[in-house]
Amino acid sequence: MLQLDTNGAEFIKRHIGPNSEDTQSMLSAIGIESIDELINKTVPDIIRSKKPMQIPPGLSEFDMLQSLKKIGEKNIIASNFIGQGYYGTITPSVILRNIFENPGWYTQYTPYQAEIAQGRLESLLNFQTMVTDLTGMAISNASLLDEATAAAEAMAMIFNHVNKSENTTQPKLFVDQSIFIQTKDVLATRAQPIGIELVEGDYQSSKIDASYFGAIIQYPNSKGSIEDYQQFIETVHQAGGMVILIADILALTLLKSPGELNADVAVGNTQRFGVPMGFGGPHAAFFATKDEFKRGMPGRLIGVSVDAQGNRALRMALQTREQHIKREKATSNICTAQALLANMAVMYTVYHGPVGLKKIATRVHALTQHLDQQLQSMGLQQVNSFYFDTLHLANIDAALLKKLATEVEINLHYINNSSVSITLDETTSEKDIQNLVQLFEKLNGKKATALNAGVKNENIPASLLRTSPYLQHPVFNIHHSETQMMRYIKQLENKDLALNTSMISLGSCTMKLNAATEMIPVSWPEYSSMHPFAPKHQTLGYQEIAKELSDYLCQTTGFTACSLQPNSGAQGEYAGLLTIRTYHQHNQQAHRNIVLIPISAHGTNPASAVMMGFKVVVVACDPAGNIDMHDLKEKALLHKDNLGALMVTYPSTHGVFEETIIDICGLIHDLGGLVYMDGANMNAQVGLTSPGNIGADVCHLNLHKTFAIPHGGGGPGMGPICVNDKLAPFLPGHSFNGNAKNAVSAAPLGSASILLISYAYIKLLGAAGLELATAYAILNANYMKSRLEKFYPILYAGKNGTCAHEFIIDLRPFKTSAGIEAEDVAKRLIDFGFHAPTMSFPVAGTIMIEPTESEDKSELDRFCDALIAIYEEIKSIENGELDKTDNPLKNAPHTQKVVCADEWNHKYTRQQAAFPLYFVQQSKFWPTVARVNNTHGDRNLICTCEPVASYA
Ligand SMILES: Cc1ncc(COP(=O)(O)O)c(C=O)c1O
Repeated sequence: MLQLDTNGAEFIKRHIGPNSEDTQSMLSAIGIESIDELINKTVPDIIRSKKPMQIPPGLSEFDMLQSLKKIGEKNIIASNFIGQGYYGTITPSVILRNIFENPGWYTQYTPYQAEIAQGRLESLLNFQTMVTDLTGMAISNASLLDEATAAAEAMAMIFNHVNKSENTTQPKLFVDQSIFIQTKDVLATRAQPIGIELVEGDYQSSKIDASYFGAIIQYPNSKGSIEDYQQFIETVHQAGGMVILIADILALTLLKSPGELNADVAVGNTQRFGVPMGFGGPHAAFFATKDEFKRGMPGRLIGVSVDAQGNRALRMALQTREQHIKREKATSNICTAQALLANMAVMYTVYHGPVGLKKIATRVHALTQHLDQQLQSMGLQQVNSFYFDTLHLANIDAALLKKLATEVEINLHYINNSSVSITLDETTSEKDIQNLVQLFEKLNGKKATALNAGVKNENIPASLLRTSPYLQHPVFNIHHSETQMMRYIKQLENKDLALNTSMISLGSCTMKLNAATEMIPVSWPEYSSMHPFAPKHQTLGYQEIAKELSDYLCQTTGFTACSLQPNSGAQGEYAGLLTIRTYHQHNQQAHRNIVLIPISAHGTNPASAVMMGFKVVVVACDPAGNIDMHDLKEKALLHKDNLGALMVTYPSTHGVFEETIIDICGLIHDLGGLVYMDGANMNAQVGLTSPGNIGADVCHLNLHKTFAIPHGGGGPGMGPICVNDKLAPFLPGHSFNGNAKNAVSAAPLGSASILLISYAYIKLLGAAGLELATAYAILNANYMKSRLEKFYPILYAGKNGTCAHEFIIDLRPFKTSAGIEAEDVAKRLIDFGFHAPTMSFPVAGTIMIEPTESEDKSELDRFCDALIAIYEEIKSIENGELDKTDNPLKNAPHTQKVVCADEWNHKYTRQQAAFPLYFVQQSKFWPTVARVNNTHGDRNLICTCEPVASYA
């Protein structure tokens, strides 16, 4: 019996919106007796879980926090000088409190509804400006998952650019030996399936010929040396290749920019701009390139456009390039990225400004020089002639050093038995330098003699000293007091609708409660300050969380093994398909290269399949939204000898639990293929059924949907995969754990620190609460459906007339009857204070509503009231009471400026425009721009802050 009142833990009632009274009235509105009856009617018996998940009962919020504190105490935060892509940094408190820990920022969705997302769009435009300025490149995106995958995206982009035809004539990429090892590993994973040949070597002795499409180098390199690549870049260009330069963003304040060096793509991480290491993430990687590549760039690009009144308005540009449109023609599967972290990094820059950043970089460099002088004075051999923040010591007894350093909790990077590197950062103090000097004195048996010789520029080659200006735009030069900064952040926040305003019912995105208690531990230093390559004995707390969370995720999926490495759902797809591909190769079935994908699948599915070297064969859906069994059988049999896998979303993206799923999985297995289940809709499964139950072999979970990680305005996310025994041996590895095979992310546990959120979510709800959450997600969707079906046609339902956790409203008929399109309804919802549901996915001209379990009845009613009021307006257009073109839908959304203007020439009232229902009068959310003009933005692509003159 699924019941709200009998499950003990207090958090269940905090997480689930409806109370028991509301539950009863919602059930009667649907015409059903109990939640059990609803679930029995909705989830086919044949797939129901027969035994409960082995997950302990929910804890109270207080107890859960105490327990996470205790586990955190098992982590030892040592003095870190490891570097290798992760650095100590100081998050300005004003940013920590007002962005990182502020639901107004972290519960936003990806800015698809630009009119209510101008704040984060502006901040992301600042991010792009920051990156283009510092890299000296023409255009930058906002943003990518981590440095290693950004490098892999760059590799794929230039590979495709150079090899335009089907026949690859330039398959080789030169990889300099001195790039970070985790980057090499991800490049290796990503290169092979698409036919790229990696050739590793020393750039100085390399021989680049016409068989290379490019080269990848790092600046400063993995050992900290600043190399002058200008000649090498020239050589690669002459051979017809392109150059990817991985750059350290802080060093670029002192070093000649990649653009000035004539690199073609610059990538890197912005972590050290105020984003904690968090045992590997989340952090925003950057990707900047020359203008000629702008249409092939992966990820999100923010651009400047105009609104219906001709005012400046921002939006996501070139959306048609994105994987969800390009599908199997896409060359990248990036969807969720790292928006929140990009916002934090750029706010760090806004706060410090160019002068402040340079000061930080100069101090780090000066401390490094100071340490260098001291170490050399005791006879140690420091190999880097030119460096920014990293020294490289050769001819030392690394084993002894490690022993001595471990005793005093100092972490260094041990390159091999006789060399080590030491990296300093913004948090390094004079005391740290003394401790390091003492450590080496002990190792060396000699005292240091050098005094601080002061800051000199001689450790940066004169030819590479930066002379070009950067970050001159006012935004980087005015918000330097805390008051100004706090207000700037607030001003932007006010422009954006997040979950702290109203429900965001995005189908397939599961915008549920991200409870404050789940978020709090992410900021605790015992978790946030951990370096991902810290020695294992220091990370016992994290290991415990990872083990327990993996077990719980296996319980919810019905599988036996889990990898927490993928950084997003799409990365999970990639990793899952990688296990399938490796499994086939292992069984001498490498020819199995066909993946069947239903037409209703999310665009990342075919994009990931192609990136994994599979050929996509699209399967039709029947008029009821189910996979067309006839078409599936025909295509599966046609390709049976080469069938690699089926990718299926369950319940389907149409919001239906297909009865045939077991037969479908059986058919694929009989023909030698495996089944990949896209777990984006797991919020309809947890506790009731599972991917294992339906017969899948592997699935990914969007922890940023089902398991309460907030969407952060377009990331972070986590997409762990769970697999059965067959696939377990092929899960992603990592160099740090001694086996780099199939690595898909830079860090072993991806964006590890946010795993705490999902861990906390599961701990708070327990098995019973998780199951109940699923049931309420289904109840809430069916309640809304029961109210709205009296007005709108609902597409697809299960055989008993119920939907799963989401449902689709068909708006296509209104195009002919009233000239109204889905976009008009979406924009009109903004006038009622709501974010539109998912638009035109999986069916064009529709909206898909997913309320989640966390919304209470009154909020569901308000949303239904808004949609019903919009329906009445459409009827008024149909019957001529409202004008066909000058009506509240076509002109939506209405800004304060428009409504309060002296003139009002519309054929409806201001009251109707801005305050159409009772609850809007009590609390009004104003969009700051009117409807954004999409085509204008793409035709006149501007992707950085415009010069100040343009505002005048
Ligand atoms: C069905 C489905 N699959 C995959 C994804 C991709 O997940 P992510 O955005 O985390 O990469 C999404 C994202 O919304 C989705 O809805």
